[in-house]
Amino acid sequence: VTRLFNFVAGPSALPTEVLESAQSELLDYAGTGKSILETSHRSPEFMEILDTANARLTRLLGIPETHVAVWMHGGASAQFAMVPMNFLPEGQTAAYVLTGVWSKKALREAQVVGDAVVAASTEDRGFDSIPDPAGWDVPQGAAYLHLTSNNTIYGTQFATLPERDGVPLVCDMSSDFLSRPIDVSQFALIYAGAQKNLGPAGVTLAIVDRGWLETARTDIPHFFRYQTHVDGGSLYNTPCVFAIYMTNKVLEWVEAQGGAEAMAARNGEKARRLYAAIDARPDFYRGLAASGSRSQMNVVWRLPSEALEKAFVAEAKAAGLLGLKGHRTVGGIRASLYNAVGLDAVDALTAFMGDFVEKNG
Ligand SMILES: Cc1ncc(COP(=O)(O)O)c(C=O)c1O
Repeated sequence: VTRLFNFVAGPSALPTEVLESAQSELLDYAGTGKSILETSHRSPEFMEILDTANARLTRLLGIPETHVAVWMHGGASAQFAMVPMNFLPEGQTAAYVLTGVWSKKALREAQVVGDAVVAASTEDRGFDSIPDPAGWDVPQGAAYLHLTSNNTIYGTQFATLPERDGVPLVCDMSSDFLSRPIDVSQFALIYAGAQKNLGPAGVTLAIVDRGWLETARTDIPHFFRYQTHVDGGSLYNTPCVFAIYMTNKVLEWVEAQGGAEAMAARNGEKARRLYAAIDARPDFYRGLAASGSRSQMNVVWRLPSEALEKAFVAEAKAAGLLGLKGHRTVGGIRASLYNAVGLDAVDALTAFMGDFVEKNG
């Protein structure tokens, strides 16, 4: 088996050890004579997986007693709708910081539900940066303030996340979840689709402040209430059994690597090396994110022409470097450096970049 270096934005690279472990037990899970894919979500085997995943997540992020984690379906896009359905009552206003396509989609859903406004935006600069919190315009008594911690498409990231300051903070952490330590207590709600740092596509995680949850609306269908899924212990309906099983293995792997701090240290070094390779040849490579807003997860840059970008992606692929084509709205090159992408992958990429510029620069 040859595994190539995979820089795709999501669903993205998983640790080889995790895939091997799943492979080794695919036909017979823990001596049960059947696959986990053929196992009831109410079985003791799956209960143990879910409990273990919850315990690992709690340890890794230091989730306090005040908060509860729930596993759901629907991706982050379902969360875009569920957040306002639950927490934007009539007569109140929600505020959104717009830092890219995903936050705009989140705002659009809120505006279907009720009154939602833009607190800050960098759209007029092509979303090249995170707006300075000093200039945010959050209405007095806002229902919540919504942020996107990392912008997968534009390659920008909050270097530090703001602290809760009266207004409940809601954060879409889909593309940098568990890439660094966070202070969960600062957030009323965190959500993330699993398919970047956490596991395969299919399962979506939310971490909710229990006190805030008590204020949620109850005039919406049961399925769309966070409370329903909290009360059901993530088993209100059939959960994403296989995705949770895989995520549990990824969480085990993150713990073995040293946890969120070790991930942050390694992610910082990976990003440092790649940005250094871009900055070393400003005549040829041009990073798109403003300094101070550069993402450690998704690094986005351009070459002098689209023809060269096409050649770069094709030649990189031939050299065993996959998934480097930029998102269609931005173009150029994007390298996603999620937790499972190693320093060896980054070193292979920067070496390729050096060769490419020698030939074409
Ligand atoms: C930051 C962010 N939010 C939301 C989404 C949408 O996620 P999903 O496809 O799980 O609905 C993505 C997908 O890439 C994302 O990167």
